[in-house]
Amino acid sequence: MRREILDILCCPHCKHDLTLFEKEVANDEVIEGILKCNNCRKSFEIVKGVPRMIVDLGDRRELAESWGFQWDKQAEGKLETDTYYGETEEQELDNFFYHLGIAPDDLRGKVVLDAGCGCGRLTKALGKYGAEILGIDIASSIECIYEYCRPNQNVHIIQADIVNLPFKNETFDYVWSKLAICYVRNPEQAFENLSDLVRPSGKLFVAVPDKANLSFTVKLKDFLRISHRMPLILLLYLSWCLAPALSLAKRVLKNPRTSLRANAFFLFNSLHPSFMTRHTREEVIGWFDRGKFYQTALVNGTDHLIFVRGTKK
Ligand SMILES: C[S@@+](CC[C@H](N)C(=O)[O-])C[C@H]1O[C@@H](n2cnc3c(N)ncnc32)[C@H](O)[C@@H]1O
Repeated sequence: MRREILDILCCPHCKHDLTLFEKEVANDEVIEGILKCNNCRKSFEIVKGVPRMIVDLGDRRELAESWGFQWDKQAEGKLETDTYYGETEEQELDNFFYHLGIAPDDLRGKVVLDAGCGCGRLTKALGKYGAEILGIDIASSIECIYEYCRPNQNVHIIQADIVNLPFKNETFDYVWSKLAICYVRNPEQAFENLSDLVRPSGKLFVAVPDKANLSFTVKLKDFLRISHRMPLILLLYLSWCLAPALSLAKRVLKNPRTSLRANAFFLFNSLHPSFMTRHTREEVIGWFDRGKFYQTALVNGTDHLIFVRGTKK
């Protein structure tokens, strides 16, 4: 953790300021230490360079473990390798700018949050545009994400939960959250939490699953019902066993083709989470329009997702 981010951090429990106690520092980074709340006195450890700003995960603990497993296996090359969710890094960056409705130059000097940053590929790639980038995730693999992003001094990784965010209000110019609030029992509250972090005239983008057009892998998960109870390693093998059938089905249905690895990834990605909420366009636009945003726009996305952005009043 770099000391500079202390100014934007706060206690995820009561939102008051924190005091940093350093135990081990290397190259200006706090590797081991404690962040203590000046108000409620709760302590949050910094372990292996990553602040652990989690209050209580409740039933999201299981998700934190299974997502951690997924990103660890991804890093080991056991799932998708050249692409990620079927996209190259260049495509993912292009989509980031298109979906937020901004140009790469708009990032210079700005502060950006990637909420639910997954394996961190986008978070790391955004580091080259002159902004401070914060990536948060609940995944237990957070150290691996931190190590992957570490070469970039302006990319910061924190283990944090969208339900109890460790940032002061109106801190970020751009908040990006793709397919993360759907793993929280109350996504509208998670949306509110994220919107509080956006500065006036800043932008928020969220992507959630489209209830009216679920992907085949989500339908399969609904059909199997208990796939999330399987040991993760078995589920990984099952995903690889089903991947050729998914590739064939996509070819027959003339869907955009993705590699076998990508299909194994898509299957595992849908089968392990214990729950995922689904939404309508009207519902998501309503979240933006009720209060804090204007210029709400439904952005063209993939068939199975709803992409919406808005500008903070
Ligand atoms: C489907 S992946 C999407 C990753 C990335 N946003 C992307 O689009 O490539 C969902 C990610 O959200 C994270 N996540 C789920 N619930 C979360 C929460 N309550 N707080 C923070 N991250 C969460 C998961 O750990 C996982 O890495």
